Amino acid sequence: MNVRFEPCGPLRGTMRVASDKSISHRAAILGAMASEPVLISNFLDAADTNSTLSAVEDLGAIVERRGAEIRIRGVGLRGATSPGRPIDVGNAGTLMRLLPGWLAGQRGETFTLDGDASIRRRPVDRIAVPLRQMGAQLEASQDRFPPFTLTGAALSGITYELPVASAQVKSCILLAGVSTPATTVLEPVPSRDHTERMLLRAGAAVRREVSPQGSWRTTVGAVDELEVEHIDVPGDISSAAFLIAAGVLVAGSRLVLEGAGLNWTRTGFLRILQRMGAIVLADLEPVGAFSVDEPVADLDVTAGSLEGTTVEPDEVPLAIDELPLVALLGCFAEGETVVRGAAELRVKESDRIATVVDGLRGLGADIEGAADGFHVRGTGSLRGGRLDAHGDHRLALLGAVAGLASQEGVEVIGMDAAAVSYPNFTADIAELAAG
Ligand code: S3P
Repeated sequence: MNVRFEPCGPLRGTMRVASDKSISHRAAILGAMASEPVLISNFLDAADTNSTLSAVEDLGAIVERRGAEIRIRGVGLRGATSPGRPIDVGNAGTLMRLLPGWLAGQRGETFTLDGDASIRRRPVDRIAVPLRQMGAQLEASQDRFPPFTLTGAALSGITYELPVASAQVKSCILLAGVSTPATTVLEPVPSRDHTERMLLRAGAAVRREVSPQGSWRTTVGAVDELEVEHIDVPGDISSAAFLIAAGVLVAGSRLVLEGAGLNWTRTGFLRILQRMGAIVLADLEPVGAFSVDEPVADLDVTAGSLEGTTVEPDEVPLAIDELPLVALLGCFAEGETVVRGAAELRVKESDRIATVVDGLRGLGADIEGAADGFHVRGTGSLRGGRLDAHGDHRLALLGAVAGLASQEGVEVIGMDAAAVSYPNFTADIAELAAG
């Protein structure tokens, strides 16, 4: 489906932020691992997170849907049974990399995971290496890609230093770690910590130590069962980021976005925006905080001018999904905007360095790609044209926001890709434009 986004007048109004995708995936998996029922409110109703609900049903959990609330009756830590056919993860990289952490501890059970064409290009060797060290067997296509088959075992604890900053890989190891006496993950650079917070809340012994250089050492110990009665999913700051960018760029806009999850490991984009001079008011969680809670607050966004900035490698994991928007904002900023140390963008739903650079250049941007990022020279405006989403939800949403702020509008080729994380985006923008 191709959709045109025309330059628009001021976006105004108050809106609830779409539910968090990362936390919805984790809540569904944790619900399946628990022995007692878990009630989840504000679970994200989108293609990716619905794949997770189907996957946990395939493994024996019962999912009861009651409007925006769902109740999961899990099978317990070691009660997952193989459906006898591949588990379809659809387009969901987070599901594909987190679920095997739990499945690795299902002794003697064999599971196959597969997904769409984009999933089949996304590496799983990054989880295969630590899970094999823990004792599970994992066989992947070309030893690297889905479909892959995993056979669970009685797992041993490991200490594992992440070769790439990835919350998905960290989470996979920690979910396996609750079936070991003790497992430690070392992260040279911090990444989102929703799994740690949720496991802690469900009764697992999770300990985080921070070195003077700022690297993290997270240890999880064995637990008999995970127990949490209720998980309330906050708004997704990564989805809100598209509305924030539109509010900042479209002249005269003023938006209040309610209920955004502001865990500091997700708010790197807001700190980058502040440096660029954007007017985004929010009660941010202090950097370094760690608790069982996911902090939630409202965001107050006013359109204004921007200055270019440099995003350094240690900021990248805290803003990884918003870096395409940093490139777009850079087009409108004064001076240069540079992102470095972001080679991970190449293994997202698309090669997001190539697709962002080609996509924005096609709209008139002065942007160059590098092996690990991009470099934008701000011109204060963007002409417009056509942008191919390449099946990547964040590219589709990027093109849409670019269109609203452009001179001539943007036709997004494949806007339906947005359904995996933010199906209501077009309707939300229409409401704010009418505001
Ligand atoms: C996610 C982690 C990030 C992010 C993805 C969601 C998560 O991936 O890009 O959209 O929920 O843990 P990596 O951990 O691979 O960087």
